[in-house]
Amino acid sequence: MNKEREKIIIDCDPGTDDALAIILALHSDKIDLKAVCSVTGNGALDTTTKNGLNILALCGRKDIPLYRGSAVALDQKQPATVSAFGDDGLGGYADTILSDKKEEEQNAVDFLVEYINSHPKEITLFAIGPCTNVAKAIRKSPEFAKNIKKLVIMGGAKYTGNMSPVAEYNFWADPQAAHEVLQAGIEDVTMIGLDVTNKIALNCEMREILRLLDTDLSRFIYNITKEGLDDNWKARRKAVSPMHDVLTVAYFIDPSIVEIKPAFIDVVTDGIAKGQSIVDINGHWNNNICNAKYVATVDVNKFYNLFFKEIFNEGINC
Ligand code: RIB
Ligand code: CA
Repeated sequence: MNKEREKIIIDCDPGTDDALAIILALHSDKIDLKAVCSVTGNGALDTTTKNGLNILALCGRKDIPLYRGSAVALDQKQPATVSAFGDDGLGGYADTILSDKKEEEQNAVDFLVEYINSHPKEITLFAIGPCTNVAKAIRKSPEFAKNIKKLVIMGGAKYTGNMSPVAEYNFWADPQAAHEVLQAGIEDVTMIGLDVTNKIALNCEMREILRLLDTDLSRFIYNITKEGLDDNWKARRKAVSPMHDVLTVAYFIDPSIVEIKPAFIDVVTDGIAKGQSIVDINGHWNNNICNAKYVATVDVNKFYNLFFKEIFNEGINC
């Protein structure tokens, strides 16, 4: 019997790993990607919007609408963008997938409010860039938060960071937005943080498999992950390329690849620890009240098998 596919929206800042998350979602027969929303992050808003449009076109899905979102964080400041994936957000390869696909006229925040409120408890929302669009939608509509079926966030980190010793980029870029989203009373929230997404970084063997597969898409992924690998090698002598956002979609396809713990999660909005996520397992310090699921570990081999199986129909030995 054919199970109905799960409807999702991806709010993102493509970005190599955002692009890979979109590609994985488009290859899963469990997922029905209804729309993509853009936000400033891995690049300025024009860059992330253009990359989102071109990724959809690359995958032959020009029919999926893309809505342009927020250029600045809730404090009206432009967050510093990440240059880890090259100036064009895709490691210098954005221009290899130019298309004529156009963004929608409606802005992302209005779209999110309208679509999710008219499909109550039907849509899983992925927030894999700064949380600005989602926080604005929550501020705009009192019903919005309760109408989200499930929210999966790539953001935060337990005891680590990539913008400071304690802050991950997406939460750091708009900490007020992350705080408001986490405290909005959304029924089902999963946070996948940097402490776990670091573990699925693409290593040289996995990247070599992409080259060996030798399809247009495998070559594209091989190319856009080069800059991340080079940067990691220069900065910390690690020959791996970041894949953070991909884990949100992989987890959604097969939750058994991760271990989950209930937690109370909040975000430090200012000061020396700006963007730090506080992950209180079982709500130990919060009267045992939890507001989210925290992804605590990932089975890396299962993740890679899922990634290659879904996108290339290849089982791999790792
Ligand atoms: O810290 C990792 C996050 O920041 C990911 O969403 C990645 O795309 C980068 O923007
Ligand atoms: Ca991202």
